[in-house]
Amino acid sequence: MLRFTAVIGILLLAGFCQTEDTGARLLASKNILNQWLVEGKDLTVAYNIYNVGSSAALKVELRDETFPTSDFQNVHGKYVVTWDRLAPGSNVSHTVIVRPLQAGFFNFTAATISYIPQEDAQPQFGYTSAPGEGGIMSLREYDRKFSPHYMDWLAFAVMTLPSIGIPFMLWYRSKSKYEKPVEKKSKKH
Ligand SMILES: *[C@@H]1O[C@H](CO)[C@@H](O)[C@H](O)[C@H]1NC(C)=O
Ligand SMILES: *[C@@H]1O[C@H](CO)[C@@H](O)[C@H](O)[C@H]1NC(C)=O
Repeated sequence: MLRFTAVIGILLLAGFCQTEDTGARLLASKNILNQWLVEGKDLTVAYNIYNVGSSAALKVELRDETFPTSDFQNVHGKYVVTWDRLAPGSNVSHTVIVRPLQAGFFNFTAATISYIPQEDAQPQFGYTSAPGEGGIMSLREYDRKFSPHYMDWLAFAVMTLPSIGIPFMLWYRSKSKYEKPVEKKSKKH
């Protein structure tokens, strides 16, 4: 489980979509900002749309239909947002907060974008980057990993180490003292 949540952290890299050279050209990314994905805890999804084209994009729409209500509760932010105009060289961003309803693996796939690249042009469609598959920890698993009890046990282990470790070292030292002559003897044979 750990391994998969770590992967999500790395998936902050943006993949991009591209359209034709004339007019507006939008690059869109979708990233999950949390390092740990946990059942019932807020998960932040950030979208960024960047116009790298030569003119303004019109009627820009971001639509994310990848969070089924059976798996995610929407806490904040709409899944469909629109901007009337996105000037060349500028960005817009959007954030959605969802709460995973169950633990397990979930494939976080791309959202879609659409826009009109210049006046009187046909709408263009594209995709954001896809964060990819991530493991959602159960709450119990998360608590076991991060609850204060875990630290208590660690402190307990550190404190008891001398009382276990010192007798062990004494025993080990006397044992090796005792064993050395035995070793020499056996080598002669
Ligand atoms: C827009 O976003 C891109 C990619 O995230 C970034 O490289 C660029 O600096 C941003 N530009 C502005 C004006 O914020
Ligand atoms: C996740 O979904 C994408 C797009 O549907 C697909 O290409 C990819 O193979 C899937 N990944 C996994 C691990 O299922």
